Amino acid sequence: MIPTETLKLTKMIYKVFDCHIVHFPVIHNRAGNITPVQNNLEVPFDIKRVYYLYDVPGGGERGGHAHKNLQQLVIAASGSFDITIDDGVNKKTVALNRPYMGLYIKPGIWRDISNFSSGAICLVLASEKYNEDDYIRNYAAYKAYVQDGR
Ligand code: TYD
Repeated sequence: MIPTETLKLTKMIYKVFDCHIVHFPVIHNRAGNITPVQNNLEVPFDIKRVYYLYDVPGGGERGGHAHKNLQQLVIAASGSFDITIDDGVNKKTVALNRPYMGLYIKPGIWRDISNFSSGAICLVLASEKYNEDDYIRNYAAYKAYVQDGR
């Protein structure tokens, strides 16, 4: 059995300051631009899953959870929305509104996504396949999780 102290050390708990905006390349063309996004190059992890949120009703909110191990890169592929990231102590709100920029979210960060523009597409590149056990969906439980790990 792995001792509890060792398990605590393996918890991946980061701060909002460890999350950052990633600028992707833009290949400009009068006929329309291209932005390439490549594993371990523009994206600092191996992409195992891609999903996107769309048809979000006006005033709708998404997120409202943290992940224990998942890394994500969130891009406003179309339109705009705001992401508030929270490490249990510090909070930061980032407005995403360009298809060539993304927010890299480290594991152990709570996020709320709001203020979706009409027709917005929230594209998410993820380091792991879907796993409900990786989610923390209750904010009080999240606070206990990060406090225990610090
Ligand atoms: P969730 O990650 O909570 O969505 P959001 O962060 O956008 O609010 O997921 C919403 C529901 O969709 C939840 O029941 C799990 C399911 N889901 C999958 O089955 N596969 C996936 O890859 C994702 C992201 C969600």
